[in-house]
Amino acid sequence: MCGIVAFTGTVDTIPVLLGGLRRLEYRGYDSAGVALQLPTEIKTIKRQGKVLQLHEAVDKAIAAGELGQMPTTGIGHTRWATHGIPNEANAHPHSDCTGEVAVVHNGIIENHAHLRAALSERGHRFFSQTDTEVIAHLIEEEYQATPGDLAQAVRTTVAQLSGSFALAICHAKHPGVLVVTRNDSPLVVGKAAYGVLAASDTPAIIEHTRRVYFLDDRDVAVLHQNGTIDFFDPAGTAYSPTAVTIEWDLEDAERGGYPDFMLKEIHEQPKVIKDTLAGRFDDKNHQILFEELALSAQEMSDVDRVIIVACGTSYHAGLIGKDLLEAWGRLPVEVAYASEFRYRNPLLTAQTLVIAISQSGETADTLEAVKLARRAGAHVLAITNVVGSRITMEANNVVFIKAHIEIAVAATKSFLAQVAQLTLLAAHIAQQRGEVDGRWVSELYEHMQELPAKIEELLTDTATAAIERCAAECAAAQTALFIGRGVGATTCYEGALKLKEISYLHAEAFAAGEIKHGPIALIDPEGLSDPRRQTPVIAVTCQSATYDKMLANIEEMQARGAKVIALATVGDERIAQLTPYVISIPKVRECLSPILASVPLQLFARFVALIRGANVDQPRNLAKSVTVE
Ligand code: G6P
Repeated sequence: MCGIVAFTGTVDTIPVLLGGLRRLEYRGYDSAGVALQLPTEIKTIKRQGKVLQLHEAVDKAIAAGELGQMPTTGIGHTRWATHGIPNEANAHPHSDCTGEVAVVHNGIIENHAHLRAALSERGHRFFSQTDTEVIAHLIEEEYQATPGDLAQAVRTTVAQLSGSFALAICHAKHPGVLVVTRNDSPLVVGKAAYGVLAASDTPAIIEHTRRVYFLDDRDVAVLHQNGTIDFFDPAGTAYSPTAVTIEWDLEDAERGGYPDFMLKEIHEQPKVIKDTLAGRFDDKNHQILFEELALSAQEMSDVDRVIIVACGTSYHAGLIGKDLLEAWGRLPVEVAYASEFRYRNPLLTAQTLVIAISQSGETADTLEAVKLARRAGAHVLAITNVVGSRITMEANNVVFIKAHIEIAVAATKSFLAQVAQLTLLAAHIAQQRGEVDGRWVSELYEHMQELPAKIEELLTDTATAAIERCAAECAAAQTALFIGRGVGATTCYEGALKLKEISYLHAEAFAAGEIKHGPIALIDPEGLSDPRRQTPVIAVTCQSATYDKMLANIEEMQARGAKVIALATVGDERIAQLTPYVISIPKVRECLSPILASVPLQLFARFVALIRGANVDQPRNLAKSVTVE
């Protein structure tokens, strides 16, 4: 939530900041602002709305000659409101009473009310409702105590803050200098040929450099215009961190000819699955390899329980992982919302394996769940997409999914990569525990290798046209229901989330066996006589032991006025007799069906969203990384 970017160097800072903010808009997009260092003052420009509106305001200021000569130092912010409504006053950067300090912040200052009251008593005047503004005023005070030492003023300020923050700060008396710091919020620092940068996430700086550094909690970095960076630990001791090279490049962060990132990312899925499978199979010993897990066969058989913790789409991937781990590894598995788990004193022992799934690796609740599990002595394995993310520092071991950068707020390719990775992991654990043999594992791996080509089949023009037709049938509805059984039900949970988050069409998913216990009452009976009133029911009906039961459920829904859209195995004649709205899925083992069936559900959600005029990449009220509780 919220994206920050900072640059100082020998070139114009404005395109660096605005370009960076555009790439961070997935983190929040209700208002944006920049603070630019001019020779004698800090000039702040903020706007409610997206970075585009800010860009227009900056262009106007340039045309009016307000920015003088090219500014080479500045900070920027794109906001996802937590404290105070999204308006210009609450937009960052925030300033102190003198106007000399400018601060951008991502995170939440938990003790802001107390600090604000104390600062007000000491005569400070506040201009916004944000938690962030206290930081600017504290720096103002601390700077008076240590005049000339901005880094020290920031350090003593930060010592008074509780909560999460990534901060970038500039000061009118320190031209060409930026101070950045972080605690429980991400921040990456990079060195380019023409200056130094800091940002909430690598996409904001990848255009300028792939050589980056990650700060530890409460470390402070001072960025100088000449390209040098001083790093300090919380005690103020200087250190030299190791640089990390980012493996993906700018092209990955661009739309590459697609109308939106979501479609681009959906189309990247065959490659993502290929990359996930690469190097995972030892065909000599018929084993799935998971060297990162770093648990011996003995330790693995000592594991007596698995708890998967995650949020949102990652939670749904966890539900699929549970089914496979239990079925193959014969281990009890619980899947918990990280936000619930962290507050409920869960049962954890040294024999508990906690698997924390997070695309971003920075979801606040998931991170807290990991810390709690570690404190209780459990072994924590993180599954994430982001190198250098917080979760990689908190867990015992890390498995990276190979989704590469995902920009659209709605997770698509990262979900498929998580499910594929969990499938491999479940097979690995089952084999380590002696529950399955090499032949079984080889066969599974062979089937998985066919997945990329099968996903390609789902992305052809003919296949997507069929999905678009079904989407058009539903776009005007008030509510849509998803039903499935087994892994089909879990696929539905994710399908319904995708639909509601990007199209704002209310959607709920149910295990089909449950519909008679309540959900069937939602079917509008007027649908029996008026096709416009038919409630859409999306039924995931792939081949499984419960296939006949699914057909019965479909008929029950239709008998009450539902319009059924069925996802079914290609060539399924029985489904074709029940409904004209069929989306065909290539034949696949049931355990792998979520990987295929999720793809048309993603496209379905996207088509409905487009028909309803929604922005598929930046749905309202959402952000890609939820770094606050
Ligand atoms: C946000 C995103 C979702 C994501 C969830 C968990 O709500 O909009 O797409 O599934 O966070 O994120 P994580 O990065 O932990 O997987």
